[in-house]
Amino acid sequence: MNASAHIGVTGLAVMGRNLARNFARHGYTVAVHNRTAARTRSLVEEFGHEGTFVPAEAAEEFVDSLQRPRRIMIMVQAGPATDAVIQEFVPLLESGDMIIDGGNAHFADTRRREAALQEHGIHFVGAGISGGEEGALNGPSIMPGGSKESYAVLGPMFETISAHVDGEPCSTHIGPDGAGHFVKMVHNGIEYADMQLIAEAYDLLRQVAEYSPAEIAEIFRTWNKGRLNSYLIEITAEVLSHTDADTGRPFVDVIADAAGQKGTGRWTVQTALDLGSPATTIAQATFARAASSQPALRSAYRPLPGGTHIPMTRSEAERFTTQVEEALYASKVIAYDQGFKMIQDVAGAYGWDIDFGAVAGIWRGGCIIRAAFLDRISTAHAADPTLVSLLAEPAFAQEITAAQVPWREVVATAARRGIPTPAFAAALSSYDTLRAERLPAALLQGQRDYFGAHTYQRTDKEGTFHTHWTQPDRPETAA
Ligand code: 6PG
Repeated sequence: MNASAHIGVTGLAVMGRNLARNFARHGYTVAVHNRTAARTRSLVEEFGHEGTFVPAEAAEEFVDSLQRPRRIMIMVQAGPATDAVIQEFVPLLESGDMIIDGGNAHFADTRRREAALQEHGIHFVGAGISGGEEGALNGPSIMPGGSKESYAVLGPMFETISAHVDGEPCSTHIGPDGAGHFVKMVHNGIEYADMQLIAEAYDLLRQVAEYSPAEIAEIFRTWNKGRLNSYLIEITAEVLSHTDADTGRPFVDVIADAAGQKGTGRWTVQTALDLGSPATTIAQATFARAASSQPALRSAYRPLPGGTHIPMTRSEAERFTTQVEEALYASKVIAYDQGFKMIQDVAGAYGWDIDFGAVAGIWRGGCIIRAAFLDRISTAHAADPTLVSLLAEPAFAQEITAAQVPWREVVATAARRGIPTPAFAAALSSYDTLRAERLPAALLQGQRDYFGAHTYQRTDKEGTFHTHWTQPDRPETAA
C-alpha cells in the first residue's frame, strides 16, 4: 500500500465525513475508514470528485496508507466508542504517530488517554471542533490540545481547513493534554447560556409585548445588525420565521417545549462547581433544560397561580423591546465573562497557560457562539492578559452601566408577570453579587459556626475564630 495520505479520518458519520471532505477540498490526501465499510464506499462514490480519498476497509490497510508521522482523526461518539477505536489502532502505530479525537470528549478522559498513549510515544490530541455539520465542511473553529510537537505538524492543517476571520484561522494550540476539550466544553456551556438568554428574550417579547413569532423574527434580524450580531441570533430569526407545513402555524408553536442536552453543558456546570467558579448563568441555562423536560412536575405546578398579565400598548411594547435588547446584551456579557472565568480558574488547577485572547479570537468564526462582540473580547484579553473580568474593561463597563435600568426593569417585569427568566435573573444576580459591598455570606458563616463549629474570620482582625454560642459568658476563641 502506498503511504500517501496526509491524514486519516475514521468514523464517517456526518461530522467525520464532512471533515474528511474539508481536508480533501484543501488538497490533502485523506485516508477514510469506517466500522461499516459501506459508509466509506458511499463517501468516495458521492464526493470522490472533491479531492483525493484513500478508502480502507481494514484498520491495517487504513494505517498503511498514511504518511509518517501517521495522523488519525477519530470522529466517533464520545465515551467508550472512542476508547475502543484507540485500542484498535494503537497496536498498529509507532512512536511519533498521532491520534486526534475530534469528538466532544470530556477533558478528563482526554487527559487520561493522552497520558496512556504517551507510554507508547504516541501523541494524543483532544481537539474541540465547533460549528456542526456545516462548520465541519466549510470551516469550523478548532480547539486542539495536546503536545506542542503535535501542533507543529497538525496546526497548519487545522488552520487551513478552519474558518477564517479577517484572514486569521479559527484554530490555535489551546494548551497541553485536555486543554482543548476543556475549552470546547466551556464553549458549549456559553452556548447553553446564550441560547437560553435568547429563548427568554423571545418568550418575553411573545408574552409581554405580545408580538407574533414572525414579528419577533424581524426584531432579532434588526438586533443582528448591531452589537448582538451572532450566529445564534441569526438562526433564531430563521427558526421563528418558519411556518409548519402541516398546520400552517408558526413552527415554534408545534415543537415540543422539552429541551434535550447531550451533556457538554452539564459537564461545564459540574466542572464549575468543582472549580468554585460562579458560572451561574450557564448553570441556570442547563437547569432550565432539565426543568423543561419534567412533564409530571410541570403538570403538578400548572394549576398554581402566577403573575398578572397587563396588556401593553404598541408604544409600550416598542419601549419594552428596547429594554429586552439591553437586558439580553448585558446578560450575554455576564455569561461570556463567566465562561472565561472558568478558563482562568482551570488554568490554575491544571497548570495550563491558556491565551484567552487567542481563544476569543478563534471563536469569532466557525463555532456556534461566533459573534461580533468576540472581536472586542479578544481585543480586551489580548490588550490585558491579566484582565480578571470583561467588566474591568472600560467599554464593557460602560455598556453594562447603561443597561442597568432596562435590565432590572425586564427582570422585574418578568417576575411580576410570572414569566420564567432564570438566565436573565442569574446574570443580574451574579452581577449584583460580585458588585456588593457586603454579602449575607457573613450570616452564613455565623450559622455554620453555630451548628457545626466551622469557624469564621473577622473583618477587624486576622485569624480564624469560633464562638461558643450556647455559653454566652465564654469568650470567642481563636481556632
Ligand atoms: C458545536 C455544538 C455541538 C453540540 C451539539 C449538541 O460546537 O458544534 O456545540 O458540539 O454538541 O450542538 O449539543 P447539546 O445536545 O448539548 O445541545
